[in-house]
Amino acid sequence: MNSESFLVTGAHGCIGAWIVRTLVQQEKSVIATDLADNPTRLRLLLSDEELERVQFRALDVTDTDAVKSVLEESGASRVIHLAGLQVPFCKANPVMGARVNVVGTINVLEAIRSCRDQVKGFSYASSIAVLGPPSRYREVPIDDSVERFPETLYGVYKVADEDAARIYWQDHGLGSVGLRPYIVYGVARDQGLTSDIAKAILAAVGGVPFRVNFCGLVSLQFARDVAEMFIRSAEADVQGAHACNLRNDVVEVEEFVRVVNETIPGAEITLDPSRPLPFPADTDDGGLRSVIGDVPFTPMKQAVVETAQQFRELLAEKKISLEQVQA
Ligand SMILES: NC(=O)c1ccc[n+]([C@@H]2O[C@H](COP(=O)([O-])OP(=O)(O)OC[C@H]3O[C@@H](n4cnc5c(N)ncnc54)[C@H](O)[C@@H]3O)[C@@H](O)[C@H]2O)c1
Repeated sequence: MNSESFLVTGAHGCIGAWIVRTLVQQEKSVIATDLADNPTRLRLLLSDEELERVQFRALDVTDTDAVKSVLEESGASRVIHLAGLQVPFCKANPVMGARVNVVGTINVLEAIRSCRDQVKGFSYASSIAVLGPPSRYREVPIDDSVERFPETLYGVYKVADEDAARIYWQDHGLGSVGLRPYIVYGVARDQGLTSDIAKAILAAVGGVPFRVNFCGLVSLQFARDVAEMFIRSAEADVQGAHACNLRNDVVEVEEFVRVVNETIPGAEITLDPSRPLPFPADTDDGGLRSVIGDVPFTPMKQAVVETAQQFRELLAEKKISLEQVQA
């Protein structure tokens, strides 16, 4: 076992589950923390034997003392902070959204500050939602330093996280890498505004007609690639507080739908042609490359084929149901 150990918050979510799986497969030690106590998504991605190698800890990131003591007791040398509420949840409950997405991040930064000799690297989830609609940006591809114009509370909270990380570098020399995913897709992506991409693949495999709720140019990031980006960002020896755009597949949703319908027999996927997402897709990931080097990238067609195969096996084993994609 590698001597590095990783503490992951929000580890039971989609990206968390992929990160835990990747760390276990890389024989790295992992402390998976989450508010939720049932690792349902992890069970979709890890075998029982792999799950036994994970140390689980219940942790609510809004609890300042608990975050500090769990980090200290874990002895973790790298922290990956993902715990968060997504766009619809922040809209429905702004106070809870701010507690989890902003106070939670401050709690993690404070905990790291109090364990400075222990923690060597830190990455966290920001989001493309920190940026404004595409019309705000004349020059493409859009680099990390453009002005941010969030149009959702969720985006405002993520801006606060990026700025807090910047101040922790300025005031305490605490280095960090914030990643700004756009649409993360793959097995276990089952909630949030843009989970329709992953759900479309599940529906296609299950032979259920499905309509993707948005259209237009998006950027798609396969969950396994994103997991590796977070891990390598936490392993990087960074100076400063970086907030990095991701890129990978920049495609029209129409093109994704075509690939799914052509690749998966019996697929009946459509989309809503009147609802483009309010985020710019043509982003430049040069900032991320300067932190981690080559960016992991599984092209969309390959990711669709792999994901479809995983869903087929999970359906056959009755580990997943079609409930989430049925009207
Ligand atoms: N999935 C995407 O496409 C995407 C895009 C941009 C940014 N992000 C960000 O990446 C992060 C992870 O995304 P995801 O898709 O895995 O989300 P997810 O919703 O699948 O998982 C989030 C996890 O956070 C946990 N959580 C919620 N409140 C908590 C609390 N108070 N304390 C501890 N844990 C708590 C939940 O139980 C859940 O397991 C989030 O911060 C999200 O905002 C995701």
